[in-house]
Amino acid sequence: MLRIKLDVKLIQQNLDQAHISAQFHYYEQLDSTNLQAKRTAQQAVPLTQAHVFVANQQTNGYGRLNRDFYSPQDTGLYISFLIPMKTGIQFHPGLLTTMTAVASLETIEAYFPVKLQIKWVNDLILDQHKVGGILAEAVTDPVSNQLKAIVIGIGVNLATKIFPKELEDIAISLSDQSHEPPQTEFVSAFIQHFFERLKTYSTGDFMPVYRKRSSVIGHHVEVQYQNQTVTGQVLDVNDEGALVLRTAKTILQVTSGEIIRVRTV
Ligand code: BTN
Repeated sequence: MLRIKLDVKLIQQNLDQAHISAQFHYYEQLDSTNLQAKRTAQQAVPLTQAHVFVANQQTNGYGRLNRDFYSPQDTGLYISFLIPMKTGIQFHPGLLTTMTAVASLETIEAYFPVKLQIKWVNDLILDQHKVGGILAEAVTDPVSNQLKAIVIGIGVNLATKIFPKELEDIAISLSDQSHEPPQTEFVSAFIQHFFERLKTYSTGDFMPVYRKRSSVIGHHVEVQYQNQTVTGQVLDVNDEGALVLRTAKTILQVTSGEIIRVRTV
Protein backbone atom coordinates (compact mmCIF):
# COMPACT_ATOMS: atom_id res chain seq x y z
CA MET A 1 0.00 0.00 0.00
CA LEU A 2 1.14 3.48 -0.78
CA ARG A 3 1.67 5.32 2.47
CA ILE A 4 1.97 9.07 2.55
CA LYS A 5 5.02 9.45 4.76
CA LEU A 6 5.31 13.16 4.99
CA ASP A 7 8.20 14.99 6.51
CA VAL A 8 6.10 17.78 7.99
CA LYS A 9 9.10 19.79 9.20
CA LEU A 10 10.75 19.72 5.80
CA ILE A 11 7.56 20.87 4.08
CA GLN A 12 7.32 23.84 6.46
CA GLN A 13 11.02 24.61 5.94
CA ASN A 14 10.57 24.53 2.17
CA LEU A 15 7.66 26.96 2.44
CA ASP A 16 9.65 29.31 4.67
CA GLN A 17 12.64 29.18 2.34
CA ALA A 18 10.41 30.01 -0.62
CA HIS A 19 9.09 33.01 1.40
CA ILE A 20 5.57 31.62 1.34
CA SER A 21 3.76 32.81 4.44
CA ALA A 22 1.72 29.69 5.17
CA GLN A 23 1.45 27.26 8.05
CA PHE A 24 1.42 23.56 7.22
CA HIS A 25 -0.74 21.07 9.17
CA TYR A 26 -0.80 17.30 8.77
CA TYR A 27 -3.34 14.82 10.17
CA GLU A 28 -3.45 11.04 10.04
CA GLN A 29 -7.24 11.22 9.97
CA LEU A 30 -9.67 14.11 9.73
CA ASP A 31 -13.33 14.52 8.92
CA SER A 32 -12.40 16.84 6.04
CA THR A 33 -9.50 19.18 5.35
CA ASN A 34 -11.99 21.77 4.03
CA LEU A 35 -13.95 21.60 7.30
CA GLN A 36 -10.72 21.93 9.29
CA ALA A 37 -9.71 24.94 7.21
CA LYS A 38 -13.11 26.56 7.78
CA ARG A 39 -12.92 25.93 11.54
CA THR A 40 -9.46 27.48 11.62
CA ALA A 41 -10.70 30.50 9.68
CA GLN A 42 -13.52 31.08 12.16
CA GLN A 43 -11.28 30.67 15.21
CA ALA A 44 -8.45 32.89 14.03
CA VAL A 45 -9.12 36.52 14.87
CA PRO A 46 -7.69 38.07 12.81
CA LEU A 47 -6.59 35.58 10.18
CA THR A 48 -3.17 36.86 9.22
CA GLN A 49 -1.60 34.11 7.16
CA ALA A 50 -2.44 31.26 4.86
CA HIS A 51 -2.70 27.67 6.13
CA VAL A 52 -2.39 24.34 4.35
CA PHE A 53 -4.07 21.20 5.66
CA VAL A 54 -3.26 17.67 4.50
CA ALA A 55 -4.87 14.48 5.79
CA ASN A 56 -3.89 10.88 5.16
CA GLN A 57 -7.56 9.92 5.36
CA GLN A 58 -10.88 11.79 5.48
CA THR A 59 -13.96 10.34 7.11
CA ASN A 60 -16.28 13.01 5.74
CA GLY A 61 -14.59 14.26 2.57
CA TYR A 62 -17.04 16.09 0.35
CA GLY A 63 -17.20 17.74 -3.05
CA ARG A 64 -19.49 19.96 -5.04
CA LEU A 65 -23.23 19.65 -4.44
CA ASN A 66 -22.30 18.10 -1.10
CA ARG A 67 -21.41 14.79 -2.70
CA ASP A 68 -19.11 12.44 -0.76
CA PHE A 69 -15.50 12.48 -1.84
CA TYR A 70 -14.11 8.99 -1.26
CA SER A 71 -10.93 9.51 0.80
CA PRO A 72 -9.40 6.20 1.97
CA GLN A 73 -6.15 6.11 3.94
CA ASP A 74 -2.69 5.95 2.41
CA THR A 75 -3.68 6.25 -1.23
CA GLY A 76 -4.84 9.80 -1.91
CA LEU A 77 -3.88 13.43 -1.65
CA TYR A 78 -6.44 15.36 0.41
CA ILE A 79 -5.36 18.95 0.77
CA SER A 80 -6.97 22.32 1.53
CA PHE A 81 -5.60 25.81 1.26
CA LEU A 82 -6.96 28.52 3.54
CA ILE A 83 -6.33 31.92 1.99
CA PRO A 84 -7.16 35.05 3.99
CA MET A 85 -8.97 37.73 2.01
CA LYS A 86 -7.73 41.11 3.01
CA THR A 87 -10.39 43.73 2.54
CA GLY A 88 -9.88 45.59 -0.68
CA ILE A 89 -8.36 42.60 -2.50
CA GLN A 90 -10.30 41.54 -5.54
CA PHE A 91 -11.50 37.97 -5.56
CA HIS A 92 -12.41 36.06 -8.73
CA PRO A 93 -14.16 32.83 -7.74
CA GLY A 94 -14.36 31.47 -11.29
CA LEU A 95 -10.68 32.03 -11.91
CA LEU A 96 -9.56 30.58 -8.60
CA THR A 97 -10.91 27.09 -9.29
CA THR A 98 -9.72 27.11 -12.88
CA MET A 99 -6.24 28.22 -11.77
CA THR A 100 -6.22 25.48 -9.12
CA ALA A 101 -7.07 22.88 -11.75
CA VAL A 102 -4.15 24.05 -13.91
CA ALA A 103 -1.68 24.25 -11.00
CA SER A 104 -2.69 20.76 -9.81
CA LEU A 105 -2.40 19.29 -13.29
CA GLU A 106 1.05 20.82 -13.77
CA THR A 107 2.49 19.42 -10.55
CA ILE A 108 0.88 16.01 -11.01
CA GLU A 109 2.33 15.72 -14.51
CA ALA A 110 5.77 16.67 -13.21
CA TYR A 111 5.69 13.72 -10.81
CA PHE A 112 3.54 11.06 -12.48
CA PRO A 113 3.83 9.70 -16.04
CA VAL A 114 0.32 10.82 -17.02
CA LYS A 115 -1.36 13.34 -19.30
CA LEU A 116 -4.45 14.88 -17.71
CA GLN A 117 -7.42 16.83 -18.95
CA ILE A 118 -9.76 19.22 -17.16
CA LYS A 119 -13.52 18.81 -17.30
CA TRP A 120 -15.17 22.18 -16.63
CA VAL A 121 -15.12 23.35 -14.14
CA ASN A 122 -12.99 21.48 -11.71
CA ASP A 123 -12.58 17.78 -12.46
CA LEU A 124 -9.17 16.33 -13.24
CA ILE A 125 -9.55 13.64 -15.85
CA LEU A 126 -7.31 10.71 -16.79
CA ASP A 127 -8.38 8.40 -19.61
CA GLN A 128 -11.91 9.82 -19.48
CA HIS A 129 -12.26 9.00 -15.79
CA LYS A 130 -12.20 11.32 -12.80
CA VAL A 131 -8.88 11.26 -10.97
CA GLY A 132 -9.41 14.35 -8.84
CA GLY A 133 -11.66 17.25 -7.97
CA ILE A 134 -11.53 20.75 -6.57
CA LEU A 135 -13.91 22.50 -4.22
CA ALA A 136 -13.65 26.20 -3.35
CA GLU A 137 -15.69 27.62 -0.49
CA ALA A 138 -16.03 31.11 0.92
CA VAL A 139 -15.77 31.86 4.64
CA THR A 140 -17.59 34.95 5.80
CA ASP A 141 -17.26 36.77 9.08
CA PRO A 142 -20.43 35.95 11.07
CA VAL A 143 -20.63 39.49 12.49
CA SER A 144 -19.76 41.75 9.55
CA ASN A 145 -20.87 39.23 6.92
CA GLN A 146 -17.76 40.19 4.94
CA LEU A 147 -15.68 37.71 3.03
CA LYS A 148 -12.96 36.57 5.41
CA ALA A 149 -11.18 33.76 3.61
CA ILE A 150 -11.32 31.26 0.80
CA VAL A 151 -10.87 27.54 1.27
CA ILE A 152 -9.75 25.54 -1.76
CA GLY A 153 -9.75 21.79 -1.35
CA ILE A 154 -8.24 19.34 -3.79
CA GLY A 155 -8.64 15.60 -3.73
CA VAL A 156 -6.57 13.34 -5.97
CA ASN A 157 -6.73 9.56 -6.20
CA LEU A 158 -3.03 8.76 -6.20
CA ALA A 159 -3.12 5.00 -5.91
CA THR A 160 -6.59 4.00 -4.73
CA LYS A 161 -7.30 0.59 -6.20
CA ILE A 162 -10.71 -0.34 -4.97
CA PHE A 163 -13.53 2.18 -5.25
CA PRO A 164 -17.08 1.88 -3.90
CA LYS A 165 -19.48 0.31 -6.41
CA GLU A 166 -21.06 3.63 -7.45
CA LEU A 167 -17.64 5.03 -8.39
CA GLU A 168 -16.22 1.97 -10.14
CA ASP A 169 -17.05 3.20 -13.65
CA ILE A 170 -16.33 6.86 -12.97
CA ALA A 171 -13.14 7.05 -10.90
CA ILE A 172 -9.52 6.19 -11.62
CA SER A 173 -6.13 6.57 -9.91
CA LEU A 174 -2.94 8.19 -11.11
CA SER A 175 -0.81 5.20 -10.47
CA ASP A 176 -1.00 1.47 -10.06
CA GLN A 177 1.78 1.89 -7.50
CA SER A 178 4.46 0.89 -9.98
CA HIS A 179 5.37 4.55 -9.90
CA GLU A 180 5.43 6.27 -6.54
CA PRO A 181 7.03 9.70 -6.38
CA PRO A 182 8.66 10.74 -3.10
CA GLN A 183 5.69 11.94 -1.09
CA THR A 184 7.29 14.84 0.74
CA GLU A 185 8.77 16.23 -2.45
CA PHE A 186 5.49 15.86 -4.33
CA VAL A 187 3.35 17.52 -1.64
CA SER A 188 5.92 20.29 -1.19
CA ALA A 189 5.99 20.98 -4.91
CA PHE A 190 2.18 20.84 -5.09
CA ILE A 191 1.85 23.49 -2.38
CA GLN A 192 4.57 25.75 -3.76
CA HIS A 193 3.27 25.63 -7.30
CA PHE A 194 -0.24 26.51 -6.09
CA PHE A 195 1.08 29.62 -4.32
CA GLU A 196 3.19 30.53 -7.35
CA ARG A 197 0.14 30.45 -9.61
CA LEU A 198 -1.98 32.24 -6.97
CA LYS A 199 0.24 35.33 -7.22
CA THR A 200 -1.01 36.17 -10.71
CA TYR A 201 -4.22 34.14 -11.02
CA SER A 202 -6.43 37.21 -11.33
CA THR A 203 -4.72 38.08 -14.64
CA GLY A 204 -5.96 34.78 -16.07
CA ASP A 205 -2.42 33.99 -17.28
CA PHE A 206 -3.06 30.24 -16.86
CA MET A 207 -6.14 30.20 -19.12
CA PRO A 208 -4.28 29.12 -22.28
CA VAL A 209 -3.23 25.94 -20.44
CA TYR A 210 -6.76 25.46 -19.13
CA ARG A 211 -8.23 25.71 -22.63
CA LYS A 212 -5.61 23.44 -24.15
CA ARG A 213 -6.37 20.77 -21.57
CA SER A 214 -10.13 21.16 -21.58
CA SER A 215 -11.91 17.88 -22.24
CA VAL A 216 -15.10 19.70 -23.30
CA ILE A 217 -14.23 22.60 -25.64
CA GLY A 218 -15.67 21.77 -29.06
CA HIS A 219 -17.90 19.02 -27.70
CA HIS A 220 -21.67 18.86 -27.39
CA VAL A 221 -22.70 18.71 -23.77
CA GLU A 222 -25.67 18.66 -21.45
CA VAL A 223 -25.34 21.11 -18.58
CA GLN A 224 -27.39 21.29 -15.43
CA TYR A 225 -27.81 25.02 -15.04
CA GLN A 226 -30.26 27.04 -12.94
CA ASN A 227 -32.53 24.05 -12.32
CA GLN A 228 -32.76 23.12 -15.98
CA THR A 229 -30.82 21.00 -18.43
CA VAL A 230 -29.33 22.90 -21.36
CA THR A 231 -27.82 21.25 -24.43
CA GLY A 232 -25.26 22.87 -26.68
CA GLN A 233 -21.76 23.00 -28.05
CA VAL A 234 -18.96 24.33 -25.87
CA LEU A 235 -17.30 27.17 -27.74
CA ASP A 236 -14.86 28.24 -25.07
CA VAL A 237 -14.15 28.80 -21.41
CA ASN A 238 -13.94 32.58 -21.17
CA ASP A 239 -11.45 34.72 -19.29
CA GLU A 240 -13.66 34.68 -16.18
CA GLY A 241 -13.76 30.88 -16.17
CA ALA A 242 -17.36 30.68 -17.48
CA LEU A 243 -18.44 28.02 -19.98
CA VAL A 244 -19.47 29.55 -23.31
CA LEU A 245 -22.21 27.40 -24.75
CA ARG A 246 -23.92 27.64 -28.15
CA THR A 247 -27.47 26.32 -27.73
CA ALA A 248 -30.08 26.07 -30.48
CA LYS A 249 -31.36 29.54 -29.55
CA THR A 250 -28.50 31.59 -28.18
CA ILE A 251 -25.01 31.80 -26.78
CA LEU A 252 -24.96 31.27 -23.03
CA GLN A 253 -22.24 32.07 -20.53
CA VAL A 254 -22.58 29.56 -17.73
CA THR A 255 -20.77 30.70 -14.59
CA SER A 256 -21.86 27.81 -12.40
CA GLY A 257 -23.35 24.52 -13.35
CA GLU A 258 -22.55 20.88 -13.89
CA ILE A 259 -21.77 19.09 -17.16
CA ILE A 260 -23.77 15.90 -16.94
CA ARG A 261 -23.06 14.46 -20.41
CA VAL A 262 -20.36 14.96 -23.04
CA ARG A 263 -20.81 13.78 -26.62
CA THR A 264 -17.88 13.57 -29.01
CA VAL A 265 -18.40 15.51 -32.27
C1 BTN B 1 -15.50 17.48 -6.37
O1 BTN B 1 -15.08 16.53 -7.03
O2 BTN B 1 -16.66 17.87 -6.45
C2 BTN B 1 -14.55 18.18 -5.45
C3 BTN B 1 -13.84 17.22 -4.54
C4 BTN B 1 -12.97 17.92 -3.52
C5 BTN B 1 -12.38 16.96 -2.53
C6 BTN B 1 -11.36 17.59 -1.66
S1 BTN B 1 -10.41 16.42 -0.75
C7 BTN B 1 -9.72 17.68 0.21
C8 BTN B 1 -10.84 18.64 0.52
N1 BTN B 1 -11.59 18.17 1.66
C9 BTN B 1 -12.85 17.87 1.35
O3 BTN B 1 -13.71 17.45 2.14
N2 BTN B 1 -13.07 18.12 0.04
C10 BTN B 1 -11.87 18.59 -0.62
